[in-house]
Amino acid sequence: MLVLKNAHHTYDARTTVKLPELHTDKGDHLLITGLSGSGKSTLLHVLAGVLRPTRGTLTINGTDLYKMSESQRDRFRGRNIGVIYQQLHLIDTLSVEVNIRIAQYMAGIPEDLNRIRDLCSELGIGEKMRSYPGQLSQGQKQRVSIARAVVNEPALLLADEPTSSLDDLRSEDVVGLLKKMAEKTGATLVISTHDSRVKRHFDNVVDLELPVGEVA
Ligand SMILES: Nc1ncnc2c1ncn2[C@@H]1O[C@H](COP(=O)(O)OP(=O)(O)OP(=O)(O)O)[C@@H](O)[C@H]1O
Ligand SMILES: [Mg+2]
Repeated sequence: MLVLKNAHHTYDARTTVKLPELHTDKGDHLLITGLSGSGKSTLLHVLAGVLRPTRGTLTINGTDLYKMSESQRDRFRGRNIGVIYQQLHLIDTLSVEVNIRIAQYMAGIPEDLNRIRDLCSELGIGEKMRSYPGQLSQGQKQRVSIARAVVNEPALLLADEPTSSLDDLRSEDVVGLLKKMAEKTGATLVISTHDSRVKRHFDNVVDLELPVGEVA
């Protein structure tokens, strides 16, 4: 389903992040762990198609993502990849409902308000659809960003540190929700974390080493 080969990303002369070889099948759940600075967000951004690796290839369902033009890749992402970013990237001036609708709009998928309503009630934010992000708790914002990521039923669901700002109970909750959402549609799930509480929920764990600097 997802294959990442021989990849690294160079930010500047002193910072090259080596990326692991990944090979996942449809429906796999994969956890990426590593200390702060080990490259979790870099990896997730490469997998999301928003950061072109300096070297290496990424294929998703047979499509080589970085061979496409940027607009083709945006369209592919909208339809096939759901992303929950470490900084949630909700738009503060838009309601919860519109924040989620945008994902449908961007992917060129017809708006489906019923789907959004069902999803929000399933995620426990059904009463908050007309609220603005600034009026929500951190956990509720996280759920809005989950709703936005899964609304188009992506084949690949990516979450960068989805539990870092949450307490133990909420953290279990969010991991459970992500797994449930992924299982419902048979999506491949990749979560990154430095949160050891999350590890016991995954059989498949890839641990990143700290960046080594120069790559030969
Ligand atoms: N835009 C950037 N420009 C230069 N260096 C960067 C940039 N983004 C990340 N880096 C560097 O790349 C390395 C990996 O960073 P990354 O954000 O991927 O780590 P992380 O594992 O997600 O860390 P955290 O757990 O703190 O979120 C770090 O050394 C970081 O300083
Ligand atoms: Mg990070």
